[in-house]
Amino acid sequence: MKIPSYEEAKKRSHEKVKIRNFELDKDYKNLGLNKKFFLKTYGCQMNEHDSENIKGMLQSMNFTEVDNMEEADFIILNTCSIRENAHNKAFGMLGRIKHLKEKKTNLLVALCGCMAQEEGVVKEILKKYKFVNFVFGTHNLDDLPKLLANSFENQKLNIEVYSREGDIVEDIPVVRDSKYKAFVNIIYGCDKFCTYCIVPYTRGKQRSRRREDIIKEVEDLVKDGYKEVTLLGQNVNAYGKDLYSDYELADLLLDISKTNIPRIRFLTSHPWDFSDKLVEVIKNNKNILNFVHLPVQAGSNRILKLMGRRYTKETYKELFDKLKSIDGISITTDIIVGFPGETEEDFEETLDLVNYCKYDSAYTFIYSPRENTPASKLKDDIPLEVKEERLYRLNELINKYSKESNMKMLGNTYDVLVEGKSLKESMLFGYTETNKLVNFKGKEDSIGKIVKVKILDAKSFSLDGEEV
Ligand code: 5AD
Ligand code: SF4
Repeated sequence: MKIPSYEEAKKRSHEKVKIRNFELDKDYKNLGLNKKFFLKTYGCQMNEHDSENIKGMLQSMNFTEVDNMEEADFIILNTCSIRENAHNKAFGMLGRIKHLKEKKTNLLVALCGCMAQEEGVVKEILKKYKFVNFVFGTHNLDDLPKLLANSFENQKLNIEVYSREGDIVEDIPVVRDSKYKAFVNIIYGCDKFCTYCIVPYTRGKQRSRRREDIIKEVEDLVKDGYKEVTLLGQNVNAYGKDLYSDYELADLLLDISKTNIPRIRFLTSHPWDFSDKLVEVIKNNKNILNFVHLPVQAGSNRILKLMGRRYTKETYKELFDKLKSIDGISITTDIIVGFPGETEEDFEETLDLVNYCKYDSAYTFIYSPRENTPASKLKDDIPLEVKEERLYRLNELINKYSKESNMKMLGNTYDVLVEGKSLKESMLFGYTETNKLVNFKGKEDSIGKIVKVKILDAKSFSLDGEEV
């Protein structure tokens, strides 16, 4: 039993992070024979990719995946902590699973991901959800086979969550959701400690993967026919700082560009670490796509300071303008409304910034206090109706600019990586280099390829077109 601690999660050790290779104990290889698992994933791309590793480990133990949880022998929830509603969804799911477990006593249930890293959540599980078999955190994903094997022998609740960052584990088996585009982790954790954000506590210290391991992974993806990689990290712009003295994200992108993978994206950028070299590398390399997700969070310097974002709206705009000088670039963002103390004037500064940047699209959120973060100690003093009204006004503006940017594409032809059949009858769907969703009439054998599509109609959230 190892329970997480808020105090420990805050600390940043100076110890070197260990790197090791995953090994599956041979005793676990047939543990899943004739057994079915159901996996539910909440949250960001990082979690989606962790789930691909969870599936990989379970498949190498011979488990079979099912999409109906009633059929499963093992249910695993990979959870998210970023806002209250993600919490509520996972707890709601645990309530449903409790009923299943009453009928099927040998069902095994596990919870992992960011919520597992929260002291408060684990205490609640110990009190109210004792039917859960085991809980493990983001720092010991690779412990899954061992914990599962132990639970087959002993059904008692086991918590195995470490607050200090774990090793970097290479070669965890993976079952990818797509055959054409792949997520590749480049850096784990975050040391930015924005005051509203729980991620530095749930994902731990910033630690980069070795460049040679990343490049080898992309080379293997190219051999397997992949067309696109998305390099992942909470703050990809910090890549390399903990590992090298003169090798940063821009250098890594250049090296990955040489693998000739047709498309390279990276997520998520913090404006504070965005170097001029990186702007140049995006500008000058065809397969480093003209697409940057650059969360601004707020447009008022007073709120940005309270958020601990380390930039002002002026420096943000300066960076934005440099990026915008790249021909055809698409820039998206994240914005939080209703941060403690946000006045109508502060909020209007956010609207002004949106009017300046005219983003291609944005994710917008109502501030959600997260336990033990510095912002949660500020008075959450804005009524919900006001937060909702601000979110509505913001979304109206964001949607207007999304539509405008999509309208500019009308009549032009773009490269689209075709991912599959669209929900709309006899249509295909895929994404442009700038990450715009296109539904279009095309040949079925285009799936998995990059084809030319002419844009015939534009909405706020998608485009329609036809293959040419
Ligand atoms: N409340 C609301 N939104 C949040 N985000 C992160 N923490 C919170 C919070 N406590 C948003 C930020 C971040 C995105 C991933 O989620 O906008 O960029
Ligand atoms: Fe959270 Fe800020 Fe780190 Fe992003 S950069 S994960 S918002 S602390």
